[in-house]
Amino acid sequence: MMDSGATGGEAPAFPIPDNVFAETVTEVQHYTDRLFRFRITRPASFRFRSGEFAMIGLPNAEKPVYRAYSMASPSWDETLEFFSIKVPDGPLTQHLQKIKPGDTVLMRKKPTGTLVNDALLPGKRLYMFSTGTGIAPFASLIRDPETYEKFEKVILTHTCRLPEELTYGEELVAALRDDPLVGEMVEGRLEHYTTVTRDPDFPRQGRITTLIENGKLAEDLGLPQIAQADDRVMICGSMAMLADVKALCLKMGLLEGANNRPGQFVVEKAFAD
Ligand code: A2P
Repeated sequence: MMDSGATGGEAPAFPIPDNVFAETVTEVQHYTDRLFRFRITRPASFRFRSGEFAMIGLPNAEKPVYRAYSMASPSWDETLEFFSIKVPDGPLTQHLQKIKPGDTVLMRKKPTGTLVNDALLPGKRLYMFSTGTGIAPFASLIRDPETYEKFEKVILTHTCRLPEELTYGEELVAALRDDPLVGEMVEGRLEHYTTVTRDPDFPRQGRITTLIENGKLAEDLGLPQIAQADDRVMICGSMAMLADVKALCLKMGLLEGANNRPGQFVVEKAFAD
């Protein structure tokens, strides 16, 4: 469902702190009672690398609550997109889920993050493992031509509890394939591999950790098992998912990387509550 019509953008009741941008919501789309995406205007001076995150808040308190949000739009885009969970009593998201076009969202000025191409050593294939809203940084990276300049093949996996939670990623990838500019670049090179864990009717079942370990992922993709020589990995999801996928990467012989020390896999948590 697409919300339409501005709310009038009432003047914020609290002063805007110096270290934040106050931006205007341009678009809101709700997917389920747990997930939505929104876009805000982009400050002219705001620059980031695809895959990074920024701290987002609302002008609804003297000391606003901030949570880390990955930019889901590519670094060249004119507006900024975010993909968010909705938690009924979440300190930020109980309010954020009610935003409408015209409302104000605060964003701290400095982006950061480790899910960036620079934190990975060169390789043949890039695996992006995500669960839930952890797909957000990859939504940015799969729209960035640099990703395809660096890797021959890009495999984005997205695992959610239910099929309707995959819609954001499915729409994104479909639009990308039809894009006159990037469409040709992703043709035959971007794999979107979706699984669910709590709907027995969905064709592809199971946690990504299980599918890596039992060889099903490799078999479905027609690719060799993940290995140090050719494969690079980015991971984004819940704390438990990160810990488990990271342990698997280490077991497969991959070394963890960071901005100042590129490696073979990198990790970032998919925040917010
Ligand atoms: P499951 O349904 O078996 O818990 P959540 O919304 O809780 O973050 O979960 C999103 C997806 O991530 C679900 O499909 C969930 O599977 C899966 N998941 C949760 N914990 C892990 C983990 N430790 N390793 C891999 N996948 C996980």
